[in-house]
Amino acid sequence: MNKIAVIGSNMVDLITYVDRMPSQGETLEAPGFAMGCGGKGANQAVAAAKLGAGVLMVSKVGEDMFAANTLANFQRFGIDSRFVTQVPGVSSGVAPIFVQSDSHNSILIVKGANAHLKPADIDVAEAALRDCQLIVLQLEIDLATVYYAIAFAKRNGIPVLLNPAPAIAGLSREHLSQLDFFIPNEGELALITGRVVDGAETALIAARQLTAEGVRHVIVTLGEKGALYVGEEGEFHVPGHKVAARDTTGAGDAFIGCFAHYWTRNGDMRNAITQAVAYSACSVTGLGTQSSYPDATQFAQFLDHL
Ligand code: RIB
Repeated sequence: MNKIAVIGSNMVDLITYVDRMPSQGETLEAPGFAMGCGGKGANQAVAAAKLGAGVLMVSKVGEDMFAANTLANFQRFGIDSRFVTQVPGVSSGVAPIFVQSDSHNSILIVKGANAHLKPADIDVAEAALRDCQLIVLQLEIDLATVYYAIAFAKRNGIPVLLNPAPAIAGLSREHLSQLDFFIPNEGELALITGRVVDGAETALIAARQLTAEGVRHVIVTLGEKGALYVGEEGEFHVPGHKVAARDTTGAGDAFIGCFAHYWTRNGDMRNAITQAVAYSACSVTGLGTQSSYPDATQFAQFLDHL
């Protein structure tokens, strides 16, 4: 079985469906609410696990009523959560999310326990991590831990993928240049390269800058327009799919989890990106984050009807 490690966040998603955002000082009734397991790291782990990958999660939960549910959720999907540990006296990560009727979302994150995931936690999981074919990272934990994980992966010859979400300006070029995979969306790519990115053409120029700096494979997610690849395997665009979108929350994470699964399973870059574009399109047709991710059977049905 292919094996992926995710070193990253988990959050409790508090999702309010709104007709519009309230203005300052206004109280507004909203049509719906849902609570679910989220966090970019956990979402990516669950997407890969739902598709059939073996997944190892390294993460932190707080000391509150959410912790047990998060751990149970990892176990429900067969994710190895031996290295998901509790931080006493702090809250778990939470994410109030607002989804508008046009399917677009606004997200606030409170890192809580996620801010306590430290380099020492990677050392504790070292033997299990060495067993994995890919280490997947995001930016909802301490940056020092992300940099340590990149160095750990390089030292141990394990391919490493960074999804720079949520975007942070001023990421260390030295660490970025060591990445095997860098998978931003257009906004993240613009912030990180300091260039205008407003479509496939400008994304191509910005992505080339990163490969020139040493990143082996840059994949830019373009929402409904698909994804762009620039790297050692050339340059190509995978077109998106027109679907009836209901909730776009977590679509980027669906892409990463699916890409990680297919790439570690067959090493075919174009195929992994093609599957990931379709998987994230499928995810926006459902509500919620992890709850909208299809398993392998549901995904096969979705592909049949494309
Ligand atoms: O990418 C979507 C995720 O961002 C949500 O699940 C939320 O928890 C935030 O981490």
